Amino acid sequence: MVDFSKISSMKGFLAPTRFEADVYDCEVIGKVPGDLNGAFVRLGGDWLYPPKFDDDSPFSMDGYINMFRFHDGIVDYKGRWVKTPRFKADLAARKQLFGKYRNPFTDEPGVEGLDRSVQNTTPLAFAGKLFTLKEDSLPYEIDCNTLETIGPWNFHGKYRSLTFTAHPKIDPATGEMICYGYEASGLETNDVFLYTIDKRGNVTREIRFKAPYISMVHDIGLTQKHVIIPVFGFVTSMERLKEGKVHWGWDSTKPAYVGIVPRDGEAKDIRWFKGPERATVHTLNARTEGDKVILEAPVFDSNPFPFFPSVDGSPWDAQKARAYIRRNTFNLNSKDDGFTEEKLFEMNVSDLGRVDDRYLTHPYRYAYTAFSDRARPAREWRAGNLSAGANNCYGRFDLATGKMTSYFAGETHSLQEVCFVPRAKSTAEGDGYILGVASNFAEMRSELIIADAQNLAAGDIARVILPFRSTPQVHGRWVNADELPFA
Ligand SMILES: [Fe+2]
Repeated sequence: MVDFSKISSMKGFLAPTRFEADVYDCEVIGKVPGDLNGAFVRLGGDWLYPPKFDDDSPFSMDGYINMFRFHDGIVDYKGRWVKTPRFKADLAARKQLFGKYRNPFTDEPGVEGLDRSVQNTTPLAFAGKLFTLKEDSLPYEIDCNTLETIGPWNFHGKYRSLTFTAHPKIDPATGEMICYGYEASGLETNDVFLYTIDKRGNVTREIRFKAPYISMVHDIGLTQKHVIIPVFGFVTSMERLKEGKVHWGWDSTKPAYVGIVPRDGEAKDIRWFKGPERATVHTLNARTEGDKVILEAPVFDSNPFPFFPSVDGSPWDAQKARAYIRRNTFNLNSKDDGFTEEKLFEMNVSDLGRVDDRYLTHPYRYAYTAFSDRARPAREWRAGNLSAGANNCYGRFDLATGKMTSYFAGETHSLQEVCFVPRAKSTAEGDGYILGVASNFAEMRSELIIADAQNLAAGDIARVILPFRSTPQVHGRWVNADELPFA
């Protein structure tokens, strides 16, 4: 029997949805801009079957891919499970066979050797193919028209890491992808393999190095000359897996390391800088200026995730789990391993921020992310459990002036990750649209917001209405019509 009723975190808007969907010609309030041709592809998680353990991480949810397909001012919606070997095995057994997050010792007997990855983190369009990404496995290829799962992809056998990041970086000038895998040669190894893959999907470079300790390397920074590799606070070991714990624990005594390697360098060229307790889960942008490497990112002071508990038993600290947009500057001429840190805005924000990807690796001005503005009106009586933590605004953060302009989603709405889409044929940074899905708690439905990135205060240009709750995304990406073989 399938019973989610005893899991308190899976109620109301956060209850599993579990169905696949097609909505043709979605309802729209306003007018969809005619130059949006392509798809807003989202990837997230839902539970096919309840987790085996109440204290498992939501990162164990089964992958669910969905897209808003834009053509000629019309939007169609499609949602499908990512049908991994794990999904198929569970469905055949009619129950959850797999245990805790990245801990195979907690699985039921009989699933040894199956890829236990759930593909629930980031969609990627690259080299004419659509992929789902999850950092504990290879990418999975997806049919961009049906959203059916094709299977794992290893770049013609030349990508040798067993894992692939959820945050590869694409150089906007060359179209090449810089990507990596950590725990690259197996569970509980500190091997990191770093790759360059050309725009046709051929591996052109590989370097292999060791991280200072086995830790989550969720995202990197990329400049025209360097790759920046943050390593921070999460620890793991074979012992803790055998004890039946989730993969990661937080160790506040671990310094945050940042590795910097030239894009054309070798493993011996990596320099590790060292700083105090921090968590740089996601980055915004980076650049090299002379002898300085500069990374801007929404950085947490400590453990951002309550479901990866502290190894010393201390309680999770919500105050420290707030991200602030910060600038880290690394001096390649320095004699010590320190670096400087600057807080660019005093307000805390969602760490799921984006920039205009055409300016990735280059000097840029604007960062976009969601945040919670409690000064805005909120109708708690209609919004139910939409409480103080909900992100009700998208902000455009001007790094040149320190000013911020914002879009407000509504008094019963919570916003998921933002996405920036350039206006067709424009080249100026920030000339384009802000897209993102709002959860409308009053109507219990999802709404895709489209706003003018240069005039956020004016509200949305259009809202694409779904008559149901769409599975929450982890990450979403805009894919232009010419990037994939769309029908
Ligand atoms: Fe991520």
